[in-house]
Amino acid sequence: MDFSRFPPRNLHLPIINAPMAGAAGGALASAVSRAGGLGLVGVGHGASPEYIERELSIVADNGNGAWGAGLMSWSLDRDSTALSKVLEYQPPVVAFAAGDPTNHARTANEAGSAVVVQVGTSTEVMAAAADRHIAAIVVRGSEAGGHGLNEVSTFTLLQFALRNSSKPVIAAGGIGSPQGVAAALGAGASAVWIGTRLIPTAESLASSDHKRRILRASAEDTVYTSVFDIALGTPWPHEYGGRTLVNEVTAEYAGTAKEAALRTASEQGSPEANELSSRVKAARASGDGSASPLYAGQAAGLVANDSPAPDSDFPPAADVLAELGGFRECLANAARLWAV
Ligand SMILES: Cc1cc2nc3c(=O)[nH]c(=O)nc-3n(C[C@H](O)[C@H](O)[C@H](O)COP(=O)(O)O)c2cc1C
Repeated sequence: MDFSRFPPRNLHLPIINAPMAGAAGGALASAVSRAGGLGLVGVGHGASPEYIERELSIVADNGNGAWGAGLMSWSLDRDSTALSKVLEYQPPVVAFAAGDPTNHARTANEAGSAVVVQVGTSTEVMAAAADRHIAAIVVRGSEAGGHGLNEVSTFTLLQFALRNSSKPVIAAGGIGSPQGVAAALGAGASAVWIGTRLIPTAESLASSDHKRRILRASAEDTVYTSVFDIALGTPWPHEYGGRTLVNEVTAEYAGTAKEAALRTASEQGSPEANELSSRVKAARASGDGSASPLYAGQAAGLVANDSPAPDSDFPPAADVLAELGGFRECLANAARLWAV
């Protein structure tokens, strides 16, 4: 692997936790880093300076030196304070997603961080390949959890990037098993980027209801929608929706004429839009997943399909990484069967 300045020193496993706002704070990132992977803290839109200080201090002090933070380009276009704050901690890696990363990648790279960028189309792959401030390309397929484009699957975009860029390529979206890790690495990815599979872990900041619902979900139980952004008034650019588990709100709105009409209804302050907004905000505040966003991808169907008791513990992230480490056996089997 010719990463030049990426990966940082101390990366022993080709596994990176996705910088998930609301799930990947310092505890999850440092657990992944200590287990030999690269731990990233999610810095979402509106993250406070106190959140950034607290969570980055945890991973900078308790990880294994392989750590970083992930931010949203569209949000930094509006206010770049979060990036300045993150760079005060001199993270070895800074990740950007959603929007034009050009200016932010230059800023982070000139401050000394290795920059990785999530892309969702072949056009974005080519732009990242040509940008000298970007060290590695994260191809994020439409099966991934959380916000992103809903255009191309992970495996197709991975092959395109490997054929059209000499930079390290990291595969994201739908990977949640040793077989998936092996598939990406066998194709030529330098590492995998895992979100959903790491949400139901002890260190994740997600609500217990969110974690339990992922354990119960199958691969068909997700939907791509903007209904929660509209209801919560989060100013995501309109081309970005989010992949979430189905619940009462998605059943009523996602992909329907009601969802199409909701943005205008919300701008006009219609009673129905206001009522939905109050309902989603209240559910989110109380950790009730029946009406709040439960961002997760199709890999939810790869997490053990059991229903833990409400007060049972979730496994440490290190256990998940140990399980994913089974990729070595998958690759060895393939080599034994097919290598010439
Ligand atoms: C709950 C959740 C929150 C996320 N938040 C962010 C974020 O703040 N920044 C970001 O770059 N990506 C975010 N993502 C997307 C991930 O970086 C990544 O693309 C995705 O999780 C990979 O697919 P997978 O979930 O199938 O593993 C989020 C994903 C989830 C599931």
